[in-house]
Amino acid sequence: MTDVNAIRQELSSHGQEHLLGFYDELTPQQRQTLLQQIESLDLDQLDELIETHVLNKPEVRLPEDIEPPPMVPALPKDDQSQREKDQARERGEQLIAAGKVAAFVVAGGQGTRLGYDGPKGCLEATPVAHKPLFQVFAEQILAAGRRAGVRIPWYIMTSPANDVVTRAFFRQHKYFGLEPEDVFFLVQGQMPSFDFDGKILLAEKDRLALSPNGHGGSLQAMRDSGALDDMAKRGIEYISYFQVDNPLVHCIDPVFIGLHEMRSAEMSAKAVSKRDPLEKLGNFCLIDGRVHVIEYSDLSEEMARQTTDDGRLRFRAGSIAIHLFSRSFVERLTEGGRCELPCHRAEKAVAYMDAEGNKVEPAEPNAVKLEMFVFDAMPLAKEAVILETLRDKEFSPVKNASGEDSLTTALHDQVRRAAELLEAAGVSVPRDADGKVAAALEISPLYAENIEDLKQKIDPNLEIPPGDSLYLGSRGQTGGLKGAG
Ligand code: UD1
Repeated sequence: MTDVNAIRQELSSHGQEHLLGFYDELTPQQRQTLLQQIESLDLDQLDELIETHVLNKPEVRLPEDIEPPPMVPALPKDDQSQREKDQARERGEQLIAAGKVAAFVVAGGQGTRLGYDGPKGCLEATPVAHKPLFQVFAEQILAAGRRAGVRIPWYIMTSPANDVVTRAFFRQHKYFGLEPEDVFFLVQGQMPSFDFDGKILLAEKDRLALSPNGHGGSLQAMRDSGALDDMAKRGIEYISYFQVDNPLVHCIDPVFIGLHEMRSAEMSAKAVSKRDPLEKLGNFCLIDGRVHVIEYSDLSEEMARQTTDDGRLRFRAGSIAIHLFSRSFVERLTEGGRCELPCHRAEKAVAYMDAEGNKVEPAEPNAVKLEMFVFDAMPLAKEAVILETLRDKEFSPVKNASGEDSLTTALHDQVRRAAELLEAAGVSVPRDADGKVAAALEISPLYAENIEDLKQKIDPNLEIPPGDSLYLGSRGQTGGLKGAG
């Protein structure tokens, strides 16, 4: 039995007694919900965070001696680095075939910036077959598993707000061909929102204003949900982590996996050269010999604009949020219950219930939200590898409703990529006077995972009339669309 008086007293000693301000008006069910939410809070920990992150703005003080980190270049510079990459590919393929690799997507965020009402993974994001993002990844995972002769499990992190809809979406689509037991959903943790005086906000009389605790919450969620145990049972040693917003991601990349293992890394990352000094990407830096990611908002403009002798940006390595984790590293970080990644403060407009019981929908930021970022685990890794990759091959996120990094640019980049592959396989692709691809093209990884596959399957004499749509999918998937398959 929950002792409401004890809870009231406890809240009072932390200055949060207002959370029970409407308790007497609530039904027994509502009371239970509210008390459960309150009991799940670690009020001592929150007191510290309120002091350091809500009442005060933590100052991001970067040390003087920040260096650009070493990177494995996207295009090998000499025979030795080519050899290392070839070895990495071979090793990665062995590890995949030995069933040691799992896929992991963080899909708990809200698509607020995009203006899409639903889990972002359900957004239709391919140029011809209009597949949802989740299907884009599912097909890659399925194809990589088939090639290696194994079943690659996929761990999907949702948040309380989108978990039910996400699971229903997978059921409705028969898990996009994956075995249901190979798809493991885990729900990330939440954090309360605070007003600027450090008071936890109520969303309703019977509910706290809670929001996802950031993708950094994924590490703790892996432990709490049993995902880590499940991985251990399946013999998984490497976790291939990516975000739900990037349809160009290479979900299971043998070179990346092999490099990570060959260099005994605990956490690795992929980087692209930033488009411009102030592009909104995390910046890879070396501080005291450790790799850190410094958010775009925390790197001074002066540093962001520094160049090297060859005129390139000194800090040009931008994070595309693709990582590899050794399972043992996540186990170490979450040992003993809590994964201590730093919190980041963001001021947001959060709807709340005021002391008189009126619902307030502020237009301006009225609250502080705290989130953990997964890349803050990088400096905790004993060894970390950064693999540079080419943006046009692996990164075109859907973040904004229009302009850069939108669905329009992601569709365009997918068509461009498909055209490059087709041309490399000897197929002639229609282009307009500016060299822009003049057809809608899409290749499912279930048809061809890479150029070698494509060369084997495609008839180089295939004609693609300008303005046409071509979808190359696994048998039975091409329905109604023109083209081979
Ligand atoms: C993020 C990175 C940035 C990186 C860029 C690459 C942060 C703070 N910044 O920016 O360094 O260069 O991606 O595209 O992350 N998510 C959850 N739970 C949460 C919050 C987010 O699962 O609580 C997931 C989202 O569903 C999404 C991903 O994390 O898949 C990225 O979140 P988002 O907030 O969109 O990050 P960005 O600001 O775009």
